[in-house]
Amino acid sequence: MMRIVILTGAGISAESGLGTFRDKDGLWTKYDLEDVATPQGFAHNPRLVHDFYNARRANCLAALPNDAHHALARLEAEFPGDVVIITQNIDNLHERAGNHRVWHMHGELLRALCASCGHRWNAPAIMTPQDPCPACHALATRPDVVWFGEMPHMMDDIQQALYEADLFVSIGTSGTVYPAAGFVRIASAGGAQTLEINLETTGSVFDETRQGEAGKQVPAWVDEVLRQA
Ligand code: OAD
Repeated sequence: MMRIVILTGAGISAESGLGTFRDKDGLWTKYDLEDVATPQGFAHNPRLVHDFYNARRANCLAALPNDAHHALARLEAEFPGDVVIITQNIDNLHERAGNHRVWHMHGELLRALCASCGHRWNAPAIMTPQDPCPACHALATRPDVVWFGEMPHMMDDIQQALYEADLFVSIGTSGTVYPAAGFVRIASAGGAQTLEINLETTGSVFDETRQGEAGKQVPAWVDEVLRQA
């Protein structure tokens, strides 16, 4: 059975209207990453951090999956082998397109986490520092997202999937944030073919690179894979 492992980043949601981080006008040109995406930033100003993620949650709920998300849902439904999506994105557009195997290594906008007891629950549309944990009642509610300096989720499963992959495809990520940026090397060392689909080439070590918008390139690639399957 052929195994395909797909890594996605902000570029796959760009055509849905969700901003990327490092492009011109990207989120990190408007906000200081240290302020809104680190445990220290949250300790210093939790309201600012909640407001940042509240705005992103509203954008996510107002957005729709695009042709790239839909193509990956079709791949999961129709490919006779194994398909898993590892996403750095905290939006839910893969799930809303119909993918079932989506691993959110950087967490999820629509989930809340208690920093005191570790309880997780569905995030309300607007979160505030005054929200008590429904389990332990501590005032330590935070978005269930992974910040810089924290451990991404599911790393053991991801490592195993990368070693077992026959094909590793990276879509819409600049390849600047580790550990995700190192996945191509792990997959390659494990014997996988590697393909990058991105607006720009990232200079990383892929066997093949396809340049262009995810909304065009991903459906074309999925058509090819399903034709050959
Ligand atoms: P980046 O903003 O770093 O990179 C987005 C990539 O998508 C760039 O290489 C763009 O060229 C490409 N791109 C833009 N529009 C595209 C389109 N329509 N089709 C295809 N590609 C397109 O975003 P990520 O690589 O996802 O982490 O960033 C990785 C992590 O850094 C994020 O998960 C987040 C961020 O800081 C945390 O906050 C922990």
